[in-house]
Amino acid sequence: MEVNEILQMNKESWEKSAERFFGRAALPEYGPLAPREDQLNLLGNISNKTVLDIGCGSGHSLKYMAINGARELWGLDLSTKQIETATSLLHDQPVPVSLFESAMEEDPGLPENYFDIVYSVYAIGWTWDLKQTFSNISCYLKKDGIFIFSWEHPIHDRLSYKDSEYIFQKSYVKEGPELNEAWNNTAVTYQRKFSTYINTLIETGFSVEKIIDDVVLPESITDDPAKWYSAQKAQLVPATFIVKAKKR
Ligand SMILES: C[S@@+](CC[C@H](N)C(=O)[O-])C[C@H]1O[C@@H](n2cnc3c(N)ncnc32)[C@H](O)[C@@H]1O
Repeated sequence: MEVNEILQMNKESWEKSAERFFGRAALPEYGPLAPREDQLNLLGNISNKTVLDIGCGSGHSLKYMAINGARELWGLDLSTKQIETATSLLHDQPVPVSLFESAMEEDPGLPENYFDIVYSVYAIGWTWDLKQTFSNISCYLKKDGIFIFSWEHPIHDRLSYKDSEYIFQKSYVKEGPELNEAWNNTAVTYQRKFSTYINTLIETGFSVEKIIDDVVLPESITDDPAKWYSAQKAQLVPATFIVKAKKR
């Protein structure tokens, strides 16, 4: 499949599913079964900061940034529906809001050396070009600006629940585009080793400050072990990882 076909397939998939995700995968949460920003305090003081959300979805994370005093809110997302929803969610903010319908692999004309914080909650793994995406983010950030992102842990979907047990079903080391099972194979995401994320950050001008793959389990574990993000599975492997990096 050509890259343009993949982007188009993913866009169509997001236009259909966007509503299901409104307000999900948004700050202060970083993702399923993971610690939250109010526990981690990775962002620090947001007051007066200029922030950019990569894969901003329905705009709920940007709203969190506004509530915490951000000076300017910027976001980009591939999906028309997500940008429309984010525009309406953020229409009455007292600070400037700039939203772009764009793939993160492309620069929709964002200012360089401008942002204090760039972040992305559960969107980075959709990129077909990690190096280009991280290079763009590095350009947008001021020196010493911070970049925080979360995504599904690369080990998570290697393990499947079959016949009442978890089995290691796919290769961890094989990288590349895959039809995404959690999306009923109607979208393509990219399998990457954990080291690929970290080494690509280093290659594109970042120093890594913190990596979090702790698991936060509910008090009682009652859900279906076959569920995509189940607490049972999280007892074996993390569902989410979070990285904080700084532009060198
Ligand atoms: C789980 S959602 C993120 C939700 C968001 N964190 C929030 O606060 O609402 C993932 C987002 O990534 C977007 N996306 C998928 N592929 C993309 C790409 N190549 N470039 C930009 N955005 C993309 C989707 O449209 C979707 O809105």
